[in-house]
Amino acid sequence: MPKITVINTETNETTTFKVGYGANLRQAAAYKDVEIYKGMSKMLNCRGMGVCGTCLIEVEPMENVDPPTFIERLHKIAPNQKLGCRAKVYGDITVKAAIKDI
Ligand code: FES
Repeated sequence: MPKITVINTETNETTTFKVGYGANLRQAAAYKDVEIYKGMSKMLNCRGMGVCGTCLIEVEPMENVDPPTFIERLHKIAPNQKLGCRAKVYGDITVKAAIKDI
């Protein structure tokens, strides 16, 4: 089972939890009560539709998540970043979350 370590850059809180192979990062974090959003975007986000971009995360290593999706290419995010709602996890990763507010 892949292990995800989430570093919340807003609160400096670090949380580690395990997920099933291919799990969606946003859904897994919500299930484990781990915050990936920053500021007002905790309330005002698109609920995983891939529209708002506020679930932006930095991932290390990128080899353990799926390649950029069409929606992520539209958002023009950096090569070390994913949208949490579009990230499928296939191995152990460390994530910097809460890096983008509305
Ligand atoms: S939750 Fe809006 S883009 Fe991911």
